[in-house]
Amino acid sequence: MKKIDTICVHTARPFDPITGAISTPIYQSATFRHPKLGESTGFDYSRAINPTRSVLEETIALLEGAKYGLAFATGMGAISCVVKLFDVGDHIIVSEDLYGGTYRLFDGYYAKYGVEFSFVDTSDPRKLDDALKPNTKALFIETPSNPMMKITDIAACAKIIHDRGGILIVDNTFLTPYFQNPIALGADIVVHSASKYLSGHNDTVAGLIAHSRDDLDFALREAQKSEGASLSALDSWLVLRGIKTLAVRMERHRSNGEAIAKWLQTRPEVERVFYSGFTPHPQSRGSAGMVSFYLKDPAKAPKVLERLKLILFAESLGGVESLITFPLVQTHGAIPEPMRLSAGVNDRLLRLSAGIEDKDDLIADLAQALED
Ligand SMILES: Cc1ncc(COP(=O)(O)O)c(C=O)c1O
Repeated sequence: MKKIDTICVHTARPFDPITGAISTPIYQSATFRHPKLGESTGFDYSRAINPTRSVLEETIALLEGAKYGLAFATGMGAISCVVKLFDVGDHIIVSEDLYGGTYRLFDGYYAKYGVEFSFVDTSDPRKLDDALKPNTKALFIETPSNPMMKITDIAACAKIIHDRGGILIVDNTFLTPYFQNPIALGADIVVHSASKYLSGHNDTVAGLIAHSRDDLDFALREAQKSEGASLSALDSWLVLRGIKTLAVRMERHRSNGEAIAKWLQTRPEVERVFYSGFTPHPQSRGSAGMVSFYLKDPAKAPKVLERLKLILFAESLGGVESLITFPLVQTHGAIPEPMRLSAGVNDRLLRLSAGIEDKDDLIADLAQALED
């Protein structure tokens, strides 16, 4: 079995078998000619299947230690596809501290079509137990959570939900398969916003699913084809190119994230720092570059965002450029106030995604922005 750094560079298809091209060809074709009636090259129409996308799908499966992969136009497209596995009356328990867009999709749309959701602190096993119902069919967790970096025990969740015949879905966007492998820990389905660390350059939006469930693959592929949020050939290539450098980027994100988190802890303007590296869990091998922090004074938040020069005030995370967001109105604006406050998302919270610039330059930028 090759090491993950090698799989990243060589992907599932190290060269094109027809031409020998080392960079996966971009099959920019909507449709594919059939040799004759009843015969096919295996490709028919790019919404359903595309050769460039297939290489990416096989690659995410390899990286996650899964049998199957599916690629979507966005992370939300991937998450929406997973919900298609459920019926009216099914109940899903969801981490309460999660990306606001996922909350909006579940509560604002699928709840309307009869799927029931409970949002709880899945890092607390008692709260998880209390939320179980006779119709609970799945757990959907983010770990580390977004933006408070809480850790949910993947193996414990898998046991709880498997005992009831349900499935565990893990959003692995924050750590990627480089640092965390949910399927090896018992998860059934892994989802990613590949717009983040996997593509890594803030230049594309994409979503991925990886899983090993023979019994679910057909339903997921039918949903992907029917809903039509499949990833384009060009964007598939961009994600594949990003994945080639995932291992080296993740190491730099990790060291920059750690340096910034430790430095923020020393600052008088900062009340508390949330960084998963401060509370390491054996289920993951690292902490990437995500650092959230509470300022002591809420009035300082807009000033810091305005004063930062190198660190860009923009939504998203996981790219080579460092970004900072104000989750209250940006990434988590869709979450109702009581739930947001209970999760800890308030007007003093900033979330930083450490890029791969020089850490001293990043810290100097934060220092000048925090000063009075
Ligand atoms: C943890 C997490 N999951 C899913 C998504 C949705 O992904 P996308 O923006 O690619 O649709 C995001 C987006 O920020 C995210 O942070």
